[in-house]
Amino acid sequence: MKLLVVGGAGYIGSHTVRQLRAAGHEVVVFDNFSSGHVQALPADVAWVRRDLLEAEAVRAVLEAHQPDAIIHFAALIEVGESMGAPGRYYRNNVVGSLNLLEAVMQTRVVPLVFSSTAAVYGTTDAVPIPEEAPLHPESVYGETKRMTEQMIHAFHAAHGLPFVVLRYFNVCGAAPGGEIGEDHPNKTHLIELACLTALGQREEMKIFGDDYPTPDGTCIRDYIHVQDLADAHVLAVEGLGRGQISAATYNVGLGHGFSVREVLDAVDAVLAEDGLPPLPRRVAPRRPGDPPRLVADARRIVDELGFQPQFTALKDIVRTAWDWHRGHPHGFED
Ligand code: UFG
Repeated sequence: MKLLVVGGAGYIGSHTVRQLRAAGHEVVVFDNFSSGHVQALPADVAWVRRDLLEAEAVRAVLEAHQPDAIIHFAALIEVGESMGAPGRYYRNNVVGSLNLLEAVMQTRVVPLVFSSTAAVYGTTDAVPIPEEAPLHPESVYGETKRMTEQMIHAFHAAHGLPFVVLRYFNVCGAAPGGEIGEDHPNKTHLIELACLTALGQREEMKIFGDDYPTPDGTCIRDYIHVQDLADAHVLAVEGLGRGQISAATYNVGLGHGFSVREVLDAVDAVLAEDGLPPLPRRVAPRRPGDPPRLVADARRIVDELGFQPQFTALKDIVRTAWDWHRGHPHGFED
């Protein structure tokens, strides 16, 4: 298939571009490079530097490239930042997605795979969380993703747009081999921060709260390796291409969780393999807005698309992240 990958130069997008090409698909990347990196793309991949807010340009790109399907990653993604800059988030994530949907309607209706997030569920008592759980996003970021999901449903109902929405849990890790990995302007993710601490760029690891109602008192999350997540996109777009699915929403996670302490233990174990000392840790106050436990019910994507994550052991996941950060201590600038 020929695929337009919108936001293809970002962390998840660039891993997906690699997996798509490995599966034999042709890729054109659309990215404004506000947080993506051209170095994250294979040297011979076609890309255009455009912004979804330029509605006319979006249509022109679709007309020029005539993709068979579109995968849409482009978004601002920081929960904390979104609360202080709602206008930017709604405009970029919602208006940008609307421009893309309208451009698709004006050119040729082709299937769409959309990046959504577990943040659409908000705090929930459901463990694990099924796709039917009520949506109560608690951040502007989560709300922009829910709104885009709703727009996609409306375009499906009105115009027959085939779609898959993928709701990601905690995405982590890097391409095995360490060529590409996570490099965000603001570092907030647990495994990335642990790797930067191991590199001496942070003094210590703070555990944000150890008095949660979980077995070791720290928060539990469902960590999905970025390459497995990329494979989920390949399965989704191929399922749409075959007409096997036309309107589906899937959680993407392992279906089981790990606590902050378990993650830090895995980091220490990987560092020990390289002869490095464990990370200094300190228990700090809870971080506002962290639910105690977020774990995907991931059975639907397994049953319907045959999704089979390869990275199920925390230590293997952390190993890929560490290899990337060790080889690129300053990200793509190295
Ligand atoms: N944590 C620490 N110390 C740190 C960093 C994180 O203890 O230095 C803890 C957090 O409190 C949390 C867990 O590690 O309990 C994971 O935190 P991350 O920041 O890595 O990830 P989140 O679960 O907060 O966020 C992820 C995605 C978001 C998405 C959200 C959905 O990164 O984009 O899940 O709930 F919105």
